[in-house]
Amino acid sequence: MAKDVIIACDFSSRERTLEFLGQFGERKPFVKIGMELFYAEGPEIVREIKRRGHRIFLDLKLHDIPNTVKKAMGVLSRLDIDMCNVHAAGTAEMMRAALEGLVRPDGTRPLLIAVTQLTSTSEERMRDELLIGTDIRYTIMHYAENAARSGLDGVVCSPLEAADVKSRCGQGFLTVTPGIRFADSASDDQVRITTPARAREIGSDYIVVGRPVTAAADPVAAYERCVKEFFG
Ligand code: C5P
Repeated sequence: MAKDVIIACDFSSRERTLEFLGQFGERKPFVKIGMELFYAEGPEIVREIKRRGHRIFLDLKLHDIPNTVKKAMGVLSRLDIDMCNVHAAGTAEMMRAALEGLVRPDGTRPLLIAVTQLTSTSEERMRDELLIGTDIRYTIMHYAENAARSGLDGVVCSPLEAADVKSRCGQGFLTVTPGIRFADSASDDQVRITTPARAREIGSDYIVVGRPVTAAADPVAAYERCVKEFFG
Protein backbone atom coordinates (compact mmCIF):
# COMPACT_ATOMS: atom_id res chain seq x y z
CA MET A 1 0.00 0.00 0.00
CA ALA A 2 1.18 3.51 -0.80
CA LYS A 3 2.52 5.44 2.16
CA ASP A 4 3.80 8.96 1.76
CA VAL A 5 4.53 12.35 3.25
CA ILE A 6 2.27 15.12 1.91
CA ILE A 7 3.41 18.73 2.25
CA ALA A 8 0.56 21.15 3.05
CA CYS A 9 1.24 24.08 0.69
CA ASP A 10 -0.65 26.64 2.73
CA PHE A 11 0.45 29.60 0.63
CA SER A 12 -1.77 32.32 -0.79
CA SER A 13 -0.13 32.87 -4.16
CA ARG A 14 1.14 31.02 -7.20
CA GLU A 15 4.53 32.78 -6.99
CA ARG A 16 5.20 31.77 -3.40
CA THR A 17 4.05 28.20 -4.01
CA LEU A 18 6.17 27.68 -7.11
CA GLU A 19 9.17 29.31 -5.46
CA PHE A 20 8.77 26.92 -2.53
CA LEU A 21 8.39 23.83 -4.73
CA GLY A 22 11.28 24.93 -6.97
CA GLN A 23 13.68 24.32 -4.09
CA PHE A 24 13.00 20.58 -4.36
CA GLY A 25 14.50 20.28 -7.86
CA GLU A 26 13.95 16.81 -9.30
CA ARG A 27 12.50 15.56 -6.01
CA LYS A 28 8.74 15.95 -6.45
CA PRO A 29 6.92 15.72 -3.11
CA PHE A 30 3.22 14.87 -2.85
CA VAL A 31 1.53 18.21 -2.06
CA LYS A 32 -1.75 19.32 -0.53
CA ILE A 33 -3.51 22.34 -2.02
CA GLY A 34 -6.17 23.86 0.18
CA MET A 35 -8.97 26.38 -0.19
CA GLU A 36 -6.81 29.49 0.18
CA LEU A 37 -4.52 28.74 -2.75
CA PHE A 38 -7.25 27.20 -4.90
CA TYR A 39 -9.61 30.14 -4.42
CA ALA A 40 -6.80 32.64 -5.00
CA GLU A 41 -5.37 31.06 -8.13
CA GLY A 42 -8.08 28.78 -9.51
CA PRO A 43 -7.70 25.42 -11.27
CA GLU A 44 -4.65 26.58 -13.23
CA ILE A 45 -2.43 26.29 -10.16
CA VAL A 46 -3.43 22.63 -9.89
CA ARG A 47 -2.59 22.02 -13.56
CA GLU A 48 0.71 23.82 -13.20
CA ILE A 49 1.87 21.87 -10.13
CA LYS A 50 0.74 18.66 -11.82
CA ARG A 51 2.74 19.51 -14.96
CA ARG A 52 5.79 19.88 -12.74
CA GLY A 53 5.39 16.25 -11.72
CA HIS A 54 3.87 16.42 -8.23
CA ARG A 55 1.02 14.30 -6.96
CA ILE A 56 -1.78 16.45 -5.54
CA PHE A 57 -4.24 16.15 -2.67
CA LEU A 58 -6.88 18.82 -3.38
CA ASP A 59 -8.28 19.61 0.06
CA LEU A 60 -11.56 21.41 -0.68
CA LYS A 61 -13.81 19.42 1.71
CA LEU A 62 -16.97 19.41 -0.41
CA HIS A 63 -20.34 19.33 1.38
CA ASP A 64 -23.55 20.00 -0.57
CA ILE A 65 -26.52 18.11 -2.02
CA PRO A 66 -25.47 14.85 -3.73
CA ASN A 67 -26.10 16.01 -7.29
CA THR A 68 -24.05 19.20 -6.87
CA VAL A 69 -21.16 17.32 -5.27
CA LYS A 70 -21.23 14.67 -8.00
CA LYS A 71 -20.96 17.31 -10.73
CA ALA A 72 -18.27 19.30 -8.91
CA MET A 73 -16.25 16.12 -8.44
CA GLY A 74 -16.48 15.46 -12.17
CA VAL A 75 -14.83 18.83 -12.77
CA LEU A 76 -12.12 18.23 -10.16
CA SER A 77 -11.21 14.75 -11.40
CA ARG A 78 -10.51 16.22 -14.85
CA LEU A 79 -7.73 18.26 -13.20
CA ASP A 80 -5.87 14.95 -12.85
CA ILE A 81 -5.59 15.25 -9.06
CA ASP A 82 -4.59 12.19 -7.03
CA MET A 83 -6.68 12.68 -3.89
CA CYS A 84 -9.61 14.86 -2.78
CA ASN A 85 -12.13 14.96 0.03
CA VAL A 86 -15.70 15.53 1.23
CA HIS A 87 -17.35 15.98 4.61
CA ALA A 88 -18.78 12.70 5.89
CA ALA A 89 -21.53 14.87 7.47
CA GLY A 90 -22.92 15.28 3.96
CA THR A 91 -24.37 11.74 4.34
CA ALA A 92 -23.64 8.37 2.73
CA GLU A 93 -25.74 9.31 -0.29
CA MET A 94 -23.58 12.39 -0.88
CA MET A 95 -20.38 10.36 -0.47
CA ARG A 96 -21.56 7.77 -3.00
CA ALA A 97 -22.49 10.55 -5.43
CA ALA A 98 -19.03 12.10 -4.98
CA LEU A 99 -17.44 8.78 -5.80
CA GLU A 100 -19.53 8.37 -8.96
CA GLY A 101 -18.68 11.88 -10.10
CA LEU A 102 -14.97 11.25 -9.72
CA VAL A 103 -14.71 8.35 -12.17
CA ARG A 104 -12.97 9.46 -15.37
CA PRO A 105 -13.90 8.23 -18.84
CA ASP A 106 -10.96 5.76 -18.69
CA GLY A 107 -12.29 4.26 -15.45
CA THR A 108 -9.61 5.75 -13.15
CA ARG A 109 -10.38 8.15 -10.32
CA PRO A 110 -8.56 10.07 -7.57
CA LEU A 111 -8.62 8.68 -4.04
CA LEU A 112 -11.62 9.99 -2.10
CA ILE A 113 -11.14 10.69 1.61
CA ALA A 114 -13.78 11.78 4.15
CA VAL A 115 -13.41 14.45 6.79
CA THR A 116 -15.11 13.18 9.96
CA GLN A 117 -15.29 15.89 12.63
CA LEU A 118 -12.91 18.79 12.18
CA THR A 119 -10.31 18.92 14.92
CA SER A 120 -11.47 22.48 15.60
CA THR A 121 -14.88 21.15 16.69
CA SER A 122 -14.90 20.34 20.39
CA GLU A 123 -17.28 17.85 21.98
CA GLU A 124 -18.98 20.79 23.73
CA ARG A 125 -19.62 22.64 20.45
CA MET A 126 -20.81 19.44 18.82
CA ARG A 127 -23.36 19.01 21.60
CA ASP A 128 -24.46 22.63 22.06
CA GLU A 129 -24.34 23.92 18.48
CA LEU A 130 -24.70 20.86 16.27
CA LEU A 131 -27.00 19.00 18.69
CA ILE A 132 -24.94 15.79 18.39
CA GLY A 133 -25.08 14.26 21.85
CA THR A 134 -22.70 11.32 21.51
CA ASP A 135 -19.05 11.52 22.51
CA ILE A 136 -16.81 12.90 19.81
CA ARG A 137 -14.71 9.77 19.37
CA TYR A 138 -17.84 7.68 18.81
CA THR A 139 -19.04 10.22 16.21
CA ILE A 140 -15.68 10.15 14.42
CA MET A 141 -15.66 6.35 14.25
CA HIS A 142 -19.29 6.24 13.11
CA TYR A 143 -18.58 8.75 10.32
CA ALA A 144 -15.50 6.72 9.32
CA GLU A 145 -17.65 3.58 9.08
CA ASN A 146 -20.21 5.46 6.96
CA ALA A 147 -17.39 6.52 4.64
CA ALA A 148 -16.05 2.96 4.38
CA ARG A 149 -19.52 1.56 3.67
CA SER A 150 -20.03 4.23 0.99
CA GLY A 151 -16.94 2.95 -0.80
CA LEU A 152 -14.57 5.81 0.08
CA ASP A 153 -10.87 5.10 0.36
CA GLY A 154 -10.22 6.52 3.82
CA VAL A 155 -10.53 9.39 6.25
CA VAL A 156 -8.60 12.41 7.45
CA CYS A 157 -8.03 11.88 11.17
CA SER A 158 -5.62 12.49 14.00
CA PRO A 159 -2.71 10.03 13.89
CA LEU A 160 -3.82 9.08 17.40
CA GLU A 161 -7.11 7.77 15.93
CA ALA A 162 -5.53 5.86 13.03
CA ALA A 163 -5.33 2.46 14.75
CA ASP A 164 -8.98 2.60 15.86
CA VAL A 165 -10.14 3.63 12.39
CA LYS A 166 -8.31 0.70 10.85
CA SER A 167 -9.62 -1.81 13.35
CA ARG A 168 -13.19 -0.71 12.59
CA CYS A 169 -12.99 -0.03 8.86
CA GLY A 170 -10.32 -2.49 7.72
CA GLN A 171 -6.53 -2.31 7.43
CA GLY A 172 -6.79 -1.22 3.80
CA PHE A 173 -8.91 1.83 4.69
CA LEU A 174 -6.55 4.79 4.41
CA THR A 175 -5.74 7.20 7.21
CA VAL A 176 -4.50 10.64 6.18
CA THR A 177 -3.17 12.41 9.24
CA PRO A 178 -2.22 16.03 9.94
CA GLY A 179 -0.95 17.10 13.37
CA ILE A 180 2.62 15.95 12.72
CA ARG A 181 5.56 17.53 14.52
CA PHE A 182 9.21 16.61 14.99
CA ALA A 183 10.07 15.77 18.60
CA ASP A 184 12.03 19.03 18.82
CA SER A 185 9.73 21.38 16.85
CA ALA A 186 7.04 23.87 17.93
CA SER A 187 3.48 22.54 18.12
CA ASP A 188 2.06 25.87 16.79
CA ASP A 189 -1.75 25.75 17.12
CA GLN A 190 -1.97 21.96 16.82
CA VAL A 191 -3.02 20.17 19.99
CA ARG A 192 -3.09 16.43 19.35
CA ILE A 193 0.27 15.93 17.68
CA THR A 194 2.73 13.13 17.11
CA THR A 195 6.04 12.53 15.33
CA PRO A 196 6.37 11.03 11.81
CA ALA A 197 7.82 7.79 13.23
CA ARG A 198 5.06 7.37 15.80
CA ALA A 199 2.38 8.17 13.18
CA ARG A 200 3.72 5.34 11.03
CA GLU A 201 3.73 2.95 14.01
CA ILE A 202 0.12 3.77 14.86
CA GLY A 203 -1.00 3.23 11.29
CA SER A 204 -0.99 6.47 9.28
CA ASP A 205 -0.83 5.91 5.54
CA TYR A 206 -0.24 9.51 4.56
CA ILE A 207 1.05 12.15 6.93
CA VAL A 208 0.23 15.77 6.11
CA VAL A 209 2.99 18.12 7.22
CA GLY A 210 2.79 21.90 6.89
CA ARG A 211 4.79 24.34 8.98
CA PRO A 212 7.52 21.93 10.16
CA VAL A 213 8.55 21.88 6.47
CA THR A 214 7.22 25.13 4.97
CA ALA A 215 8.52 27.33 7.81
CA ALA A 216 11.85 25.51 8.22
CA ALA A 217 15.10 27.34 7.50
CA ASP A 218 15.89 24.50 5.08
CA PRO A 219 12.56 23.06 3.83
CA VAL A 220 14.17 20.36 1.70
CA ALA A 221 16.21 19.06 4.65
CA ALA A 222 13.10 19.17 6.88
CA TYR A 223 11.11 17.23 4.26
CA GLU A 224 13.87 14.62 3.91
CA ARG A 225 14.00 14.27 7.69
CA CYS A 226 10.26 13.72 7.73
CA VAL A 227 10.44 11.06 5.02
CA LYS A 228 13.32 9.33 6.80
CA GLU A 229 11.49 9.27 10.14
CA PHE A 230 8.22 8.17 8.55
CA PHE A 231 9.69 5.30 6.56
CA GLY A 232 12.06 4.33 9.39
O1 C5P B 1 1.25 23.44 9.52
P1 C5P B 1 0.57 22.17 9.91
O2 C5P B 1 1.49 20.97 9.88
O3 C5P B 1 -0.16 22.29 11.22
O4 C5P B 1 -0.52 21.94 8.76
C1 C5P B 1 -1.44 20.89 8.78
C2 C5P B 1 -2.33 20.96 7.57
O5 C5P B 1 -3.36 19.99 7.71
C3 C5P B 1 -3.03 22.30 7.37
O6 C5P B 1 -3.20 22.49 5.96
C4 C5P B 1 -4.35 22.10 8.05
O7 C5P B 1 -5.37 22.92 7.51
C5 C5P B 1 -4.63 20.63 7.74
N1 C5P B 1 -5.55 19.95 8.68
C6 C5P B 1 -5.32 19.88 10.03
N2 C5P B 1 -6.20 19.24 10.85
C7 C5P B 1 -7.30 18.68 10.34
C8 C5P B 1 -7.55 18.72 8.97
C9 C5P B 1 -6.64 19.39 8.16
O8 C5P B 1 -4.30 20.38 10.51
N3 C5P B 1 -8.12 18.01 11.13
